[in-house]
Order: sequence, then C-alpha cells, then structure tokens
Amino acid sequence: MSLRSAKSDANAPEPAPAVVPVHVGVIMDGNGRWATSRKLPRVEGHRRGVEALRRCVRAAREVGIRYLTIYSFSSENWSRPVGEITELMRLLKLFLRYDLAELNRANVKVRVIGERASLSSDIRDLLAEAENLTRANTGLTLVVAFNYGSRQEIAAAVTRIAQDVVAGRLKPQDVDVEMISQRLETAGIPDPDLIIRTSGEQRLSNFLLWQAAYSEFVFLPIYWPDFDKAALIAAIDEYARRDRRFGGVSACPGP
Ligand code: IPE
Ligand code: IPE
Ligand code: MG
Repeated sequence: MSLRSAKSDANAPEPAPAVVPVHVGVIMDGNGRWATSRKLPRVEGHRRGVEALRRCVRAAREVGIRYLTIYSFSSENWSRPVGEITELMRLLKLFLRYDLAELNRANVKVRVIGERASLSSDIRDLLAEAENLTRANTGLTLVVAFNYGSRQEIAAAVTRIAQDVVAGRLKPQDVDVEMISQRLETAGIPDPDLIIRTSGEQRLSNFLLWQAAYSEFVFLPIYWPDFDKAALIAAIDEYARRDRRFGGVSACPGP
C-alpha cells in the first residue's frame, strides 16, 4: 500500500463537514513507520505524533465533535523495547504538564480510561490532576486511553458484576447490555460513531471492543505524525456517506 503525506495549505479554510459525529475514537498508529521511512529512530515518530495529537484535538473542537477518544498506549504496548516505553511515558508526562493549561482554557474536559495501578506514581498524579482540573468543563471531552485494553476492561466489569451477585446486590437474570455498559470505564460516554485508524492497518488492537458494536470505521492511508485537520475532515466526510442501519433497514434505500 502506498501512503501519502497529508499536506494541506495551513491558510486555506477547511469546509465544515455536513454531518459531525458526536464521538470519534482515534487509533493513532504509524509513528514508528513514519520515522523509519525517514531513517529516524522510532521515538522521533512518537515525538512528532504528539504534535499531530495537538492538531487533532484543535480540529475536533473546531468541527464540533463532543467526545474524542485517543488510543495512546495499549495494555499490549508493554511488550515494546524498554527505551521506547520510557520515551512514550516521558511524552505523556510532557503532554499532561505543558498542554493541560491550554486544554483547560479551551474548556476541554479530560477523562482517562485504562489501568492505572501499574503506572508510576508521577504519571498517576498527572492523570488525576488533568481530570480534576477540567472536571467542570463543558466543551470537548478528551478521553485519553492510556494503558488501556478493552478485553481487560470487560473482564474487570464482569468481576464487579460477579461480586455484586455474590454479595446479593444483584440477580444474575438482571444482568443486561445497559448494565454492562455502565460498568465499563466509558460509563456515561456515548458509543463512538466513528473510529479512525491511521497507518493503513485495519484492526482494533483491543480498542473499545464493546463500544464499537455499531461504529463506522475509516482507515486512513497516512501515518499518524502526518495527521491534520484535512485528514479529520476527510474521515468525517467518508463517515457522512455511510448508511448506518443498526440492524434495521435503510431510511433511504437505493434503486
Ligand atoms: C502508534 O505508532 C503509537 C503507539 C502505539 C504508542 P506505532 O509505534 O505503533 O507505529 P508503528 O505502527 O510501529 O509504525
Ligand atoms: C494500537 O497500535 C495501540 C495504539 C495506537 C496506542 P499498535 O501499533 O500497538 O497495534 P498493533 O500491534 O499493530 O496491532
Ligand atoms: Mg503500530
């Protein structure tokens, strides 16, 4: 597959998309290949990836997305070389330290999903600070999926349900879809309408498995460091052309 570089004229106004998804999930993939294709170390791709993330958050606010979930580090990413993990942790800390004030000024509400107990205490503190500082904000909700794995999230929800059954607080026959949704880390957040993955890979890699039951998927043929507002709008335009049936029949059937 050939990957194009997302170049756009920064001064050209972007047309607003006609249909804006409420919740967009983004699998920010391809940092390593972006760097390797330029004979740079993989970590350079991650550094440039943070700039793409800033562009993505700004663009999401500008087009009127309400929830943006970014997949920053998966439960399985611990299997990477220790130097790369160290750099990813450092970049998360930098992002939380230096971007938090601006996110707060922009009325962004930060919410974090993923397992926190195994993270270092300085990262845990920064994540909690980001959530606490922005808790009352009413603009874009930025959901940061860090050390996140959807299977682990579902397993933890099942454990809590089992504990409630054992304690007599819940009857097995009362377990339903809504109850499970409310025990996931994304409780209260609408399911993603659109999931974007960059880099050309076409898989979920343990991202929002339950929540993506009726999401639309757009796979962009660019590496994450090249992501910009034009790429977001291209994905939303593709989304707007989809016929979401949710198991029903089309509201506007073709010929
Ligand atoms: C995504 O880019 C960033 C993270 C997973 C943290 P990758 O590092 O996966 O880049 P590729 O897929 O190896 O090119
Ligand atoms: C998914 O990308 C995780 C993040 C983007 C944080 P990976 O690069 O880890 O996924 P695989 O290994 O290619 O499936
Ligand atoms: Mg990858």
